[in-house]
Amino acid sequence: MIKPHGSDELNPLFVYDTQKRHALIAEAETLPSLLLNSAAAANAVMLGGGYFNPLTGYMNLADALSVAEKMHTVDGLFFPVPILNRTSQDGISAGTRIALRDPNVEGHPVLAIMEVDAVESISEEQVNFMAEKIFRTLDPKHPGVATFSELGNTLLSGPIQVLSFSYFQSDFPDTFRTAVEIRNEIAERGWETVVAFQTRNPMHRAHEELCRMAMEQLHADGILIHMLLGKLKPGDIPADVRDASIRKMVEIYFPPNTVMVTGYGFDMLYAGPREAVLHAVFRQNCGCTHLIVGRDHAGVGDYYGGFDAQTIFDEEVPSDALELEIFKADHTAYSKKLDKVVMMCDVPDHTKDDFVLLSGTAVREMLGKGIAPPPEFSRPEVAKILSDYYQALDA
Ligand code: ADX
Repeated sequence: MIKPHGSDELNPLFVYDTQKRHALIAEAETLPSLLLNSAAAANAVMLGGGYFNPLTGYMNLADALSVAEKMHTVDGLFFPVPILNRTSQDGISAGTRIALRDPNVEGHPVLAIMEVDAVESISEEQVNFMAEKIFRTLDPKHPGVATFSELGNTLLSGPIQVLSFSYFQSDFPDTFRTAVEIRNEIAERGWETVVAFQTRNPMHRAHEELCRMAMEQLHADGILIHMLLGKLKPGDIPADVRDASIRKMVEIYFPPNTVMVTGYGFDMLYAGPREAVLHAVFRQNCGCTHLIVGRDHAGVGDYYGGFDAQTIFDEEVPSDALELEIFKADHTAYSKKLDKVVMMCDVPDHTKDDFVLLSGTAVREMLGKGIAPPPEFSRPEVAKILSDYYQALDA
């Protein structure tokens, strides 16, 4: 099986030993508390589940700057984005143990215990430097930049022991999985070649066929549909609706035992190319051999070129950094001429009018009015679930 990133074995930071975990939860009640922001909490959940292997906690300032600049820590570990615990809270000292509290669960239960190695202040210039490298823009209208610039200018770094998976396990019991669980399930199924499909959206025909094309071309044993379950920008479809629509599509249109429908607890960064590389790192940690990267992967608005998230792998990721390979997908759409979904690069004779192309806004409007998009664009069963959601919203 493909090795995790940066180590031979996966080292999740969740404390699996129940007795030990309960002892740490009790200890946490005696420690100074820090209420995390959602980004730092999501980092803890990812670290807990082994997704950010081989990291042992939150990065310090030198690593954060180095990772932002050149995707390597000071010690030379390849990592695509800084994994940070930033705060505006004063009064935390280096050399102490603190309880990290969950901002996303009522009552703010303890999420992790942190050994604070360093407390460093980050200047505005350093925040901007990192944001510019990660997001390729400083436009405050970019949702990722807007979130990043508000996270606080004190950086706490050091190892953590994770004590909960936040709300993800209780809210998405059938879908939330750790990298450890996914790796184990892939091994149990005996899959060797496994393609990951990252998504934060419902899956329409183009996405479905993209998975099928990757499966066929790579002679894969299975596909991991791996959806983001954390925070999104306003207007994006909530995870439960997306989950239901994806499950319906898989149930009807994929052969049994070829697809794992799963999700991970992380907030969307909207960092386009850099996020695509992060996606690759954590799918390797899950045991996947390939990741589909298509058009405008992890993008937002028109901040990134349609295929920047593919070129970053050729131009900025050293060839020995990852074992997982990228399945590059061209813009995919239904061809009226050929009566099937195709990649545009495979049909050079087509013009725009030969495809069924609908903008996200047009689809949303149709669904909101109870009008199903054409079956060439969206499976009727998927459209029904989305339409029910939009109509309830507009009611
Ligand atoms: S993402 O932000 O999670 O990447 P989304 O769920 O929309 O967004 O996309 C999932 C994957 O499908 C990404 O790899 C994206 O590039 C790809 N993709 C989405 N639509 C198309 C399309 N029409 N053609 C090619 N690739 C696509």
